[in-house]
Amino acid sequence: MYLPDEIEKILITEEEIKAKVAEMGRILTKEYADKNPLFICVLKGSVVFFADLMREVKCPMEINFLKASSYGSSTVSAGTVSLDVGAEINFEGRHVVIVEDILDTARTLYSLKNELLTRNPASLRIVTLLDKPSRRVVKGFTADYTGIAIEDHFVVGYGLDYSEQFRNLPYVGILKPSVYS
Ligand code: IMP
Repeated sequence: MYLPDEIEKILITEEEIKAKVAEMGRILTKEYADKNPLFICVLKGSVVFFADLMREVKCPMEINFLKASSYGSSTVSAGTVSLDVGAEINFEGRHVVIVEDILDTARTLYSLKNELLTRNPASLRIVTLLDKPSRRVVKGFTADYTGIAIEDHFVVGYGLDYSEQFRNLPYVGILKPSVYS
């Protein structure tokens, strides 16, 4: 198995992720069966989760992509969120599902949600694979569908990066603190 030196340990295995994504897909399929939802991938971190999740959604649906970033190349949120919400995407009257990799301070999703609500979707829900509730800055903010809640570790893999590295790992691993401290 490809296990770079910088990884302290594997937190969530490939098999655990696969089972959780399938379960989330089943719930979303039921929920959106007759709604032709618009699933939004929040780049870049969500790309792996998104690609797996959309194939577990077994009803008509559409996809699109947005870019959001709050982290520069460090493990500490910059506190400012940059959003690139494509003007060309029509959210009006659509059942929108935002797909995120991880909910941390919630600054990113809070900004994104508010921005998208101005575009008059019929509904707007948030799906996140991982959640670090202990890190929340936007108090009370939660996702509508959460895969796995984790402790306060900086994790990489399955799309998540540190300084643009490790997105290709098929599991979620804890990064050795010595890498960033
Ligand atoms: P928030 O705005 O603080 O909730 O941050 C959300 C974004 O920060 C995520 O979409 C990730 O890109 C990044 N992030 C937060 N925690 C981690 C982590 O443990 N590893 C890698 N990226 C993270």
